[in-house]
Amino acid sequence: MPDKKIMTTGFGAPIGDDQNTATAGTRGPALMQDVHLLEKMAHFDRERIPERVVHAKGAGAYGYFEVTADVTRYTKAAFLSQVGKRTEVFARFSTVGGERGSADSARDPRGFALKFYTEEGNYDMVGNNTPVFFIRDPLKFPDFIHTQKRNPRTNLKDADMFWDFLSLTPESLHQVTVLFSDRGTPATYRNMNGYSSHTYKWYNAAGDYFWVKYHFKTDQGIRNLTRQESEHLAGASPDHATEDLFNAIASGNPPSWTLEMQIMTPEQAEDYRFDIFDVTKVWPHGDVPPIKIGKLVLDRNPVNYFAEVEQAAFNPSNLVPGIAASPDKMLQGRLFSYHDTHLHRLGPNYQLIPVNAPKAAKAQNYQRDGFMRVDDGGGSGPNYWPNSFGGPAPDAAALEPDYPVHGEAGRHAYAHPNDDHSQPGELYRKAMNDMDREHLVGNIVEHLKNAVPRIQKRQCALFYKADAEWGGRVATGLGLDLAEVQKLADMTKEERAAATAV
Ligand code: NDP
Ligand code: HEM
Repeated sequence: MPDKKIMTTGFGAPIGDDQNTATAGTRGPALMQDVHLLEKMAHFDRERIPERVVHAKGAGAYGYFEVTADVTRYTKAAFLSQVGKRTEVFARFSTVGGERGSADSARDPRGFALKFYTEEGNYDMVGNNTPVFFIRDPLKFPDFIHTQKRNPRTNLKDADMFWDFLSLTPESLHQVTVLFSDRGTPATYRNMNGYSSHTYKWYNAAGDYFWVKYHFKTDQGIRNLTRQESEHLAGASPDHATEDLFNAIASGNPPSWTLEMQIMTPEQAEDYRFDIFDVTKVWPHGDVPPIKIGKLVLDRNPVNYFAEVEQAAFNPSNLVPGIAASPDKMLQGRLFSYHDTHLHRLGPNYQLIPVNAPKAAKAQNYQRDGFMRVDDGGGSGPNYWPNSFGGPAPDAAALEPDYPVHGEAGRHAYAHPNDDHSQPGELYRKAMNDMDREHLVGNIVEHLKNAVPRIQKRQCALFYKADAEWGGRVATGLGLDLAEVQKLADMTKEERAAATAV
């Protein structure tokens, strides 16, 4: 017989009855002295924490990353230092715009967030299932997200808001193309790729640095839903991707991804035909062939969703020696935003929550106290630096090598020619097959038809600029006058905005 487990209050006192509220007599009012009832209710009243402002709905799993190629000439990161070396990982996949209870099959990018518990501290790779993003400046992010969520008056998703912003922001076209292809509705989390999207910096032990992009390619193969399948699943099985990931792992069928890197030298980057830090662009594989360097395997489900998945806090600024940020402005904005939002969502000691705490390294510094400081708070050790009592000291070996910057401080746009339509056009013509193109056009028309005609025309002009046939097909699907669309396509962004304003 296992030991009988006694139910207790939060402070460990045994509870005698958990079915009957204490009352004055059998039919009398409840007694204030029923402290068990008060404690239980008060805790329940506080069960929810704020949901993530984006990526609220998600699923997570543990696993490992294994190095399969020698990359020591590019990076000195310890977890990448040896072929065969394994590092524990926690992954969270998500949709972006919907709330915590929204459908997994929604048309949306999918988050692809990884936490590597390395011996040099936690390294987070917080990417998406798309290689590019909608905007290239962080100042635009809050506005962009507002348009993808609900109308402030009706509390409804709103096609006018959605397409108004995108059509006034031509840099979004590449990501819009991926989003409205069937890759915008992946069949499961196991059947999609993960991309860093941003350029990062790797540097080696000698201090030489390289610009890199990460591509986690699914070993399960890419599988997508059609628009009709995704709409059906939203009603019939709204948690289908969460269920699929959990069941695959629980039944001993661990999903895996092959990590391929694109790597450029600073010299290559200097002469490249566009700014390699612009997150709305890919580096064509022909120019920078990806090289295979590792494998990610997810083989363990969390035991408690709230503790491990809801409280997980990823942050692109969690970097380790050998890996650094690039000057990509979006990435620079993200380096601030995640820690800041975690302070709001989880509190100032969120790094102590087990899923967020380092596992292969030890956190030791002079940060002290605050709400929910639940470890020994630094014990009796010194709480200041410098000290002469043997407290933790900085190690210059962890410094990122200096690198040159130049120019004038100011609000600069990306300097390369403002070409937002070539790569979406390439994607349409070169990477997609006839069926992909047909689905893309159908998916766009079905969504864009809900916007007012002036916004439809403005957006259609962007498709037309990328590819005349594509723009023509969307115009036909929406019943627009193609000559009018062509005229808008020939205008500058500013002229087009003025010609289609109310
Ligand atoms: P490549 O032919 O070498 O690469 C095309 C890539 O496009 C494929 O490797 C695949 O990426 C991706 N792809 C294939 N079908 C689709 C689809 N239906 N929807 C979305 N993506 C698809 O050409 P380039 O490298 O010159 O790129 C051409 C275009 O492909 C780009 O403009 C870009 O839009 C897209 N692309 C490029 C990527 C890159 O890093 N170069 C990555 C993803 C897309 P994957 O192998 O990653 O699955
Ligand atoms: C989540 C901000 C761009 C990927 C979040 C969250 C914020 C945020 C505030 C919620 C975090 C939380 O509550 O835990 C921003 C800002 C961006 C930006 C300000 C641009 C300036 C991007 C880009 C990508 C991305 C370009 C992918 C390349 C993710 C992912 C999550 C996330 C995957 C979910 C992490 C998880 O699973 O917990 N972002 N984001 N974001 N973001 Fe971004």
